Amino acid sequence: MPVVVTAPSASTPWADPDALLRQDPEMAEVVLGEAHRQSDSLQLIAAENFTSPAVLAALGSPLANKYAEGYPGARHHGGCELVDAAERIAVGRAQTLFGAEHANVQPHSGSSAVLAAYAALLRPGDTVLAMGLPYGGHLTHGAPVNFSGRWFDFVGYGVDAGTGLIDYAQVRRLARAHRPKAIVCGSISYPRHIDYEAFRVIADGVGAYLIADAAHPIGLVAGGAAPNPVPYADIVCATTHKVLRGPRGGMILCGAEYAERVDRAVFPFTQGGAQMHTIAAKAVGFGEAATPGFTAYAHQVVANARVLADALAAEGLRITTDGTDTHLITADPAPLGVDGRTARGRLAAAGIVLDTCALPYTEGRGIRLGTAATTTQGMREAEMTRIAALFASALREDAEGARGARAEVRELVRRFPPYGTVS
Ligand SMILES: Cc1ncc(COP(=O)(O)O)c(C=O)c1O
Repeated sequence: MPVVVTAPSASTPWADPDALLRQDPEMAEVVLGEAHRQSDSLQLIAAENFTSPAVLAALGSPLANKYAEGYPGARHHGGCELVDAAERIAVGRAQTLFGAEHANVQPHSGSSAVLAAYAALLRPGDTVLAMGLPYGGHLTHGAPVNFSGRWFDFVGYGVDAGTGLIDYAQVRRLARAHRPKAIVCGSISYPRHIDYEAFRVIADGVGAYLIADAAHPIGLVAGGAAPNPVPYADIVCATTHKVLRGPRGGMILCGAEYAERVDRAVFPFTQGGAQMHTIAAKAVGFGEAATPGFTAYAHQVVANARVLADALAAEGLRITTDGTDTHLITADPAPLGVDGRTARGRLAAAGIVLDTCALPYTEGRGIRLGTAATTTQGMREAEMTRIAALFASALREDAEGARGARAEVRELVRRFPPYGTVS
């Protein structure tokens, strides 16, 4: 089908950024307020990033209007020729980027991807071995409040009490004792590389499937800064919105032998119509991730995280595993006399935004932070050292110190606006 491409103009009124402001000032205030908040404070939430204007343009396009149940060439709805092209582009780019025989780009989120992976390989009641939640497992790895904990029999592995590293001998022991149908490797807070080959060997030893939930490191994989789970896992689940810097969403990568089971597990088993605007935006994100600039970005993300972890340790925080291989740091602020929740509050008052998290073998909560967003803004090692110093001022219970830290955070983020303009 011939496509006429025109630049946004009066003939493409959907691209008018002022439409929301004119029509719904109440919501415009919220949206513009959030855009301001994001650029006026330091975004250290490990799962967040700033997508590009091109990704946001695809998200805000009329592809959002299109119903497209099914897969390219086999849809339940008419008029899908162009969105079929969008999905084929997204799938092809994901396959090339990660070296996967098959990619499904339809999962609405990381959790939806995990649900579909389980649906493809398991039956309710099956035993699954995954990282226990207190050690960094995700909700979908067996939390009682989640479908995973209700429908499957989860056994949790942990990390070594001394090093904080995955205890592969324990994983092997538990696998032999419980004979799980599947083993899941992946975490919300593990800062080190995962040894996918070791997991593969353990899974093969007990005849289990291996599911890699690479929601966090997949962007580093794209940039060649973390090991790729695709050659080892039967199914890889991921999000597209963390370090990978695409739109909010999920995807599944697998070998050809699981392609049909995975596709049917996504649609029609766990989802209805695909979100074509998000799929187009995923394709844009994959395209960006295939560039040399993204490879440099991914390596800078890790370099920044390493410097930040060392600098936070120098300020007195206890860093889990004594550092990081990735974008992610978990730390116990207790040596500074505060628990994770108090730390998050004081840091937020200074304009430093991050999460609390469970810390293995620690009673109070710790903090979890990452360098994906600040690195997208262009910050480098020198800024990471400065951020660690700002932590120290913000964490002291001293109103003047907090005010000073807030002003310094503002001055720092003003030099690195996420979208190239000072708001
Ligand atoms: C390891 C892991 N799996 C799954 C998810 C779920 O992703 P979503 O929030 O998109 O459902 C996350 C999100 O942080 C995650 O870290």
